[in-house]
This record gives sequence, structure tokens and C-alpha cells, in this order.
Amino acid sequence: MIHVLRDDPAFVNELDFVMEKDGRLIGQNMFMRTVINADDGREIPVLTMGPICITSELKRNGYGKKLLDYSLEKAAELGYGAVLFEGNIEFYGKSGFDYARKFGIRYHDLPEDADDSFFLCKELIPGYLGGVTGVYQTPKGYYVDDADVEAFDKAFPTKEKLKLPGQLF
Ligand SMILES: CC(C)(COP(=O)(O)OP(=O)(O)OC[C@H]1O[C@@H](n2cnc3c(N)ncnc32)[C@H](O)[C@@H]1OP(=O)(O)O)[C@@H](O)C(=O)NCCC(=O)NCCS
Repeated sequence: MIHVLRDDPAFVNELDFVMEKDGRLIGQNMFMRTVINADDGREIPVLTMGPICITSELKRNGYGKKLLDYSLEKAAELGYGAVLFEGNIEFYGKSGFDYARKFGIRYHDLPEDADDSFFLCKELIPGYLGGVTGVYQTPKGYYVDDADVEAFDKAFPTKEKLKLPGQLF
């Protein structure tokens, strides 16, 4: 997915980050532009973020939070108003994210009574979403085709697919 997103027109080149420790790549984070389709007909430009990750053996050492906070600071410096995405409040809540429903923003294609606690939001400009209600759209680039993923993976030495502790999804 990361491989595909970097060529997507919605990809934000200025917010494409890697984290290194002792010359070794240990994490990455990236952002995409998208919109909230506001109930009053406006399109509110926002950012979405991720995937963010820290190499497995260095998780829970504070690197993820450091990378996240740095990335958000840079996004704010570029003037972006808000960031919304799917994630775990246990991690992102520590960096100022809250449930998007509290801002009046709904997740696309989700039934009204469904659990939307995975859908998070942070304003980078305080009050940016004031007076806005509407539906957030995940950028199309995130919907990679499984067959394309399999084909891409074949270009690398074989690895066993695992779900590791700390993996949020
Ligand atoms: C999510 C991820 C980037 C977090 O990075 P990290 O370096 O492990 O996180 P940090 O050490 O900075 O965590 C800061 C705090 O967030 C919370 N936190 C982090 N990961 C958590 C988890 N899996 N469950 C609950 N709380 C978590 C903790 O309170 C933690 O502080 P503590 O370790 O003192 O308790 C990392 O676990 C990862 O790469 N996961 C796999 C990929 C992924 O799921 N990415 C997110 C997609 S939305």
C-alpha cells in the first residue's frame, strides 16, 4: 500500500517521514489529502494519516509517539486544519486525538448505529471543524487490490504472514 500511495496525487510529499535509530530504519509515517463532504454542501479539505509503524522489537519505547507528534507538528506548520483516520484511541489519544463523532464527523458507509470508536480526529487549527457536520471520505488510494499486493510481495524473499502483539489492526 505504501508503495502505491507514494505515486497517488493525494499523497503529501512534504509529510513523508521515516525514523532512523543508529542509521537503521525503524519507523515511517505518511499523509494523504482528502475531504469531509459537509452536510451544507461544502467540501472541507482535511488530511488523513498512515500507515504509521515502528519496527516490532522497538515498540512501546515511545518512538511511535515521537514520530506521530513530529509529523503532526509539521502538518500544522504547513497550514492543514485537521487530521482524521481509523485508529486506536489508546495510542492516538495521547497525542490529542478524540472520537471524530465528537466533532460531528461521520465515517463513510457506516450504518448510523454502528460502533465508530475507531474513527479519530484532531484539529491542527483550533476550531477548524467548528460548525461543520458531514461525512469523511477515505482516499481511494488506500483500497489496494489484494491480487496487486500478492504480486508486489512476490518480488521480495518469502516471509510468513503474522499478526504481532501491539498490531492495532
Ligand atoms: C501503533 C504503533 C505505531 C505505536 O508505536 P510505539 O512506538 O509502540 O508506541 P509508543 O511507545 O510511542 O506508545 C506511546 C503510548 O501509546 C499507548 N500505546 C501504544 N501502543 C499501544 C497499543 N498497542 N495498545 C494500547 N496502547 C498503546 C501506550 O499508552 C504507550 O505508552 P506506554 O508504552 O508508556 O504505555 C506501533 O505499535 C506499530 O507500529 N503498530 C503496528 C502498525 C499499526 O497498527 N499501525 C497503526 C495503524 S492505525
